[in-house]
Amino acid sequence: MNECRICKNTIEPFMTFGKMPIANGFLKDNEFKNEYFYDLSPAFCSKCFSFQLINQPDPKMMFHENYAFFSKTSKFMQTHFKQFADWIEQNYFNDKNPFIIEIGSNDGILLENFAKKNIDHLGIEPSSNVAENALKNGVNTITKFFNESLTSDILENYRKADCIVAANVMCHIPDLNEIGKCANSLLKEKGVLIFEDPYLLDMLQRVSYDQIYDEHVFMFSAHSVNNIFKEHNLEIIELIHQKTHGGSMRYVLGRKNQRQKTNNVNYFFEKEKEFGLDKFETYIKFKNDCEISKKNFVQSLKNYRDKGKKIAGYGATSKSTTVLNYCEVDSNLIEYISDTTPIKQNKFSPGMHIPIKTYDFFLENIPDIAVLFAWNHKNEIINKEKNFVNKGGKFISHVNLNNY
Ligand code: SAH
Ligand code: TYD
Repeated sequence: MNECRICKNTIEPFMTFGKMPIANGFLKDNEFKNEYFYDLSPAFCSKCFSFQLINQPDPKMMFHENYAFFSKTSKFMQTHFKQFADWIEQNYFNDKNPFIIEIGSNDGILLENFAKKNIDHLGIEPSSNVAENALKNGVNTITKFFNESLTSDILENYRKADCIVAANVMCHIPDLNEIGKCANSLLKEKGVLIFEDPYLLDMLQRVSYDQIYDEHVFMFSAHSVNNIFKEHNLEIIELIHQKTHGGSMRYVLGRKNQRQKTNNVNYFFEKEKEFGLDKFETYIKFKNDCEISKKNFVQSLKNYRDKGKKIAGYGATSKSTTVLNYCEVDSNLIEYISDTTPIKQNKFSPGMHIPIKTYDFFLENIPDIAVLFAWNHKNEIINKEKNFVNKGGKFISHVNLNNY
């Protein structure tokens, strides 16, 4: 019997993606034999409506000195975070001398916007290689996991914050009750907790099941976020849907009755209810949708291969680890995957061991078909690859690319 990570109710598994390696665990061939696998199975809690993984590998196996995800690899995301920083400054800094804390600040993509303006900030980032980049750019960073003991250190050495922000990391953290407690200790009276993460409703509607991987121990909805944080006297005051990461939600939470709620909060609650996000049947349907998606994806790759087409992957995303391992697609179907991140290059993809190549390699070995694993960066990539498309190259994906 499995317990909900939030409310301790019994959770209901509804499918498994099978044995999975660490999503960002790009490896060398001499590491194949010791590769770590775990069972990737999501479950739904019908009491607090949390969508969560039953098993998550130890965070230290995922976030460390060789972490492979660098936020600044996307220009679109750099613009997004600049706009995000401006929006926070305009809407949620009331104090003349504001202080902002970011959980999972990575290479400083968000905080550098505050650092440039000499606004008091602090990044918390356990993966030392990405944190180093932030430090080099003048972003004040502590290389540790965010937790209660670090919270005491921050209160001793810094001060209470106007805003705690987290992008694409809250959904990584297994103990959110601890985060609720930390936020209560660290925030000023009118302070806010702001985070954005891939949105459950988008994932269910678009069957973008590759959002499910080890780091994403939760996929949030307004319903589940409300239930998680109300126990800690925090309420949702604003919800803003985002285009990033294939459909995300920005949640703004304040202490109960301290701030005015915006009108759109109810809109998203209604929308989620209408879709049936609170019903177990919805997840059974999602399971069936995933199975159909898998069948179609594998079949289309086989069809192209049988016609003699050269197939490569574009973007060795963490998400691709779920697609490749769930669909059991290896280098017999996809010859190589190109990626601009140096730490991934000349290694192999987790589990299926497809070679990861540089972007130059892609230009020198142009495929007929490029499987766009970084489908969430479609516009940026299609713009960059006009030449590939004009010469007859085709982008495909397991998701419907017309939605992005
Ligand atoms: N905020 C960035 C990075 C997201 S990737 C962006 O949106 O692009 C998630 C980051 O959170 C990684 O850099 C990882 O090392 C970090 N992280 C994971 N668990 C964490 C925790 N418990 N506390 C602080 N950071 C964490
Ligand atoms: P992303 O989809 O942001 O994240 P995740 O790992 O969370 O699924 O990852 C984008 C990956 O795609 C990253 O490894 C960099 C790579 N990439 C390219 O190779 N070329 C590009 O033009 C862009 C935008 C990304």
